[in-house]
Amino acid sequence: MPPITTTLSLALLLLLLLFTTAKAHNITRILAKHPEFSSFNHYLTLTHLASEINRRETITVLALDNAAMSSLLSKQLPLYTLRNVLSLHVLVDYFGAKKLHQITSGTTLTASMFQATGSAPGTSGYVNITDLNAGKVGFGPEDNGGKLDAHYVKSLVEIPYNISVLQISQALNSAEAEAPTPGPKQFNLTTTMAKQGCKSFASLLTASGADSTFDANIDGGLTVFCVTDSVLKAFMPKYNNLTAAQKVSLLLYHGIPVYQSMQMLKTNNGIMNTLATNGANKYDFTIQNDGEDVTLKTKVVTSKIMGILIDEEPLVIYKVDKVLLPRELFKPEAAQAPKAEKEADSPEADAPDESEDQTADSNDNGASGLDGRRMVMVLMSLSSGMLFYHVN
Ligand SMILES: *[C@@H]1O[C@H](CO)[C@@H](O)[C@H](O)[C@H]1NC(C)=O
Ligand SMILES: *[C@@H]1O[C@H](CO)[C@@H](O)[C@H](O)[C@H]1NC(C)=O
Ligand SMILES: *[C@@H]1O[C@H](CO)[C@@H](O)[C@H](O)[C@H]1NC(C)=O
Ligand SMILES: *[C@@H]1O[C@H](CO)[C@@H](O)[C@H](O)[C@H]1NC(C)=O
Ligand SMILES: *[C@@H]1O[C@H](CO)[C@@H](O)[C@H](O)[C@H]1NC(C)=O
Repeated sequence: MPPITTTLSLALLLLLLLFTTAKAHNITRILAKHPEFSSFNHYLTLTHLASEINRRETITVLALDNAAMSSLLSKQLPLYTLRNVLSLHVLVDYFGAKKLHQITSGTTLTASMFQATGSAPGTSGYVNITDLNAGKVGFGPEDNGGKLDAHYVKSLVEIPYNISVLQISQALNSAEAEAPTPGPKQFNLTTTMAKQGCKSFASLLTASGADSTFDANIDGGLTVFCVTDSVLKAFMPKYNNLTAAQKVSLLLYHGIPVYQSMQMLKTNNGIMNTLATNGANKYDFTIQNDGEDVTLKTKVVTSKIMGILIDEEPLVIYKVDKVLLPRELFKPEAAQAPKAEKEADSPEADAPDESEDQTADSNDNGASGLDGRRMVMVLMSLSSGMLFYHVN
């Protein structure tokens, strides 16, 4: 492919990505325009439900105003349980105000995200919507003994048939959703790792004190990438060369403060911040599919996910085949950037097939969850990746 075509397709790709992002809904932004829902909005973000909502199409959010939220919060449910309760307020079907009054036979059961994520036992997780007398519409979870004690108040936003946000009078009371969940706190991160081949990595976490940061993040959602003992052994000389602070940063680089199942990683390719990210110290990496595999690219090394030690939301631990080396601490082995640029500028520098494939992959996968500026960065890193290939 001649360079000009490559440039053109990159520009096209950029346009396409920006276009896609601009169209997707963002529940945080939608609710921000309604300050009386600020508490609900805050907890959608805190429980990571906001990103789940943004990923889906055809969805209805039953929003609670600050008064209804404060009575829900007075139950002092742990954050993880609150997530279940709030996920019951997200229906995986589209209900505009009009459709509420057009329900066949005046009553329906519809699945919520609580049901859809498999957290709900049995048939709980379904919400009963019933047209009541005098134009009232009642809502109740199916496991609520037939009580429809919440009712429709008003419509906040309707984007047919992507997302509808409707205010209801009070929280849906579901014993199942509020049931104490086997707290992920009961997991002992380091013991779990140690039992499954990541004993040395776990020891480093404990020895450096980094384990407390990992533990503190479990409740809100945590994804950990650990390396097996044999991989770590080969890396120890380099590790021992780091200062204490650098050791902590390197270890924190192996965790991201959000739960990401395998499926989410595959559909959410792009730049990811880590527990080590701190303002100017970016410590991020790029998640990218490689066929059926998921890879983590740090600019220094590309590590592949080899298996799952544990996956129980909000905690997931993966095994990866290489230590993740942040560019903040390590230099890319073959970094010859200035030379690469010169070479690439010359007309005979042509992109080999390999790099084109790489670009095409990112085209499919890089779009979701990135804002425009981030994507430009992704594209820039892609192009420098291509420049690098020119040299070889
Ligand atoms: C609904 O979502 C789809 C896919 O994200 C998008 O193409 C479409 O433009 C959206 N519709 C509206 C009205 O925003
Ligand atoms: C959604 O909007 C909020 C507030 O404007 C912003 O902070 C967040 O990054 C947006 N999320 C996405 C996925 O664009
Ligand atoms: C919804 O609840 C009402 C009131 O308890 C009940 O009469 C109705 O049959 C329920 N609807 C469905 C579809 O189960
Ligand atoms: C995990 O178990 C180890 C060894 O039993 C213990 O030292 C550590 O404090 C435990 N960590 C947590 C967070 O309970
Ligand atoms: C450790 O650091 C020293 C001094 O910077 C360097 O010469 C040596 O190669 C490093 N060893 C490893 C294994 O990186």
